[in-house]
Amino acid sequence: MTSHTHIVMDRVSKHLRGRTVLNNISFSLPAGKIMAVIGPSGSGKSTLLRTINRLIEIDSGTIFIYHTSIKKQNPIRIRRKIGLVAQTPAMFEGTVLENIRYGLDLQNKYSKQAVLKALRDAELTTEFLYRKASNLSVGEQQRVAIARALALEPEILLLDEPTAALDSKITRRFEATIKHLKDVRGLTIVWVTHDLAQARRVGDYVGILKRGKLEQFGPASKIFPAATKDHDKAKRGGCCKW
Ligand SMILES: Nc1ncnc2c1ncn2[C@@H]1O[C@H](COP(=O)(O)OP(=O)(O)O)[C@@H](O)[C@H]1O
Ligand SMILES: [Mg+2]
Repeated sequence: MTSHTHIVMDRVSKHLRGRTVLNNISFSLPAGKIMAVIGPSGSGKSTLLRTINRLIEIDSGTIFIYHTSIKKQNPIRIRRKIGLVAQTPAMFEGTVLENIRYGLDLQNKYSKQAVLKALRDAELTTEFLYRKASNLSVGEQQRVAIARALALEPEILLLDEPTAALDSKITRRFEATIKHLKDVRGLTIVWVTHDLAQARRVGDYVGILKRGKLEQFGPASKIFPAATKDHDKAKRGGCCKW
């Protein structure tokens, strides 16, 4: 663990209805990096993600954010530091502006500048501000969801299969936006995906989750050696047998 280690899991387990959903998970993710978490459906990816902002409480082990156990931190304050974007964007009634300012209003922190900065960083133009959020395409809504998270100036972004409902061209643009955000805002990002090719494109670090176990974790260059550029080859090489 170095001073730049942002998220650490130390022997984390979670049981739900007699099943072990997370089994003794440990990893350290440096600040300002993207960890891609891949694994088949039901392997515990969403559960893992939601333990980080305490939407789900773990049974054993410890999760540290900047060296402090999250159990010692106020759950509300943690959620303010951590933005979560899910697979299907949940838009509130009303305009894009109302959607983005929602969290700011709750904290009495609304300012037009904060909204405009979030809008710009999510790569939406100001023309969107007064449009009804529910009338936008899914790809545009996903950008509004990102802007809504960014408005609260998070340190960490949790993305739960954020491109699952998007076509491949929009997906690539979304990936570029998030990578850019990592660079300009220094965000630490945990990105859950079931798409191996996406994990290769976005992950600085990669975790492979199977039946609740983190079978592999490491820098992308170690998990996906250069010799196995083709992801089918990586699969055959034993990286991800599913
Ligand atoms: N509230 C719950 N109660 C019981 N089992 C659950 C609950 N939530 C998730 N699970 C189970 O935990 C496992 C992991 O689920 P999840 O984290 O959603 O996986 P993934 O996101 O990888 O598809 C699954 O087997 C799922 O059925
Ligand atoms: Mg899931």
